[in-house]
Amino acid sequence: MDVFEAIHGRRSIRAYTSDPVPEEDLKRILEAAIAAPSAGNRQPWEFVVVRDQEQKHKLADAALGQSFIEEAPVAIVVCANFPRTVRVYGERARRLYCIQDTAAAVQNIHLAAYALGYGTCWVGAFDDERVAEVIGCPKDVRPVAIIPIGKPAEKPSATPRLPLNKVVHRERF
Ligand SMILES: Cc1cc2nc3c(=O)[nH]c(=O)nc-3n(C[C@H](O)[C@H](O)[C@H](O)COP(=O)(O)O)c2cc1C
Repeated sequence: MDVFEAIHGRRSIRAYTSDPVPEEDLKRILEAAIAAPSAGNRQPWEFVVVRDQEQKHKLADAALGQSFIEEAPVAIVVCANFPRTVRVYGERARRLYCIQDTAAAVQNIHLAAYALGYGTCWVGAFDDERVAEVIGCPKDVRPVAIIPIGKPAEKPSATPRLPLNKVVHRERF
């Protein structure tokens, strides 16, 4: 699939069929995730693949009851491993790079999943501590996004964007 088709065709999907997500597809999606750029190539990401129904239920609960998470056959919790990059880049890595690097991996997951015919949603509204506890995160690893993945059971229309002339500045802000 053409990259522009994936970028413009992707939608947040919040309803899924029960069709499975085979391991081969999941592997391709995760390989796309780790192909993302990262500051100094430190790759401060970790991925927790959750297929267990009870685990997905706990994640949905920890994400303000967003029950579509448990309807998806699989959810990936993307985490930031802070020491991996903070060790080298200090405070800037803690504040900025860890979030930017993992966000780039998250976007690759969305685009790769879409190219394989799956729907995803970037879930960022959750109780960090509860999600960390559900997935058993070590102390210095923090969850940054939950991404449910499944065949779409809805076809939402495109959400609006601010026009370029409102957000693009030339030479100076
Ligand atoms: C950082 C971030 C956090 C988000 N958190 C949630 C969330 O908790 N629940 C949800 O349903 N959608 C969440 N979204 C999805 C946005 O609502 C969605 O991307 C936006 O409305 C644009 O729609 P689109 O993805 O279909 O283009 C999040 C998106 C981002 C980038």
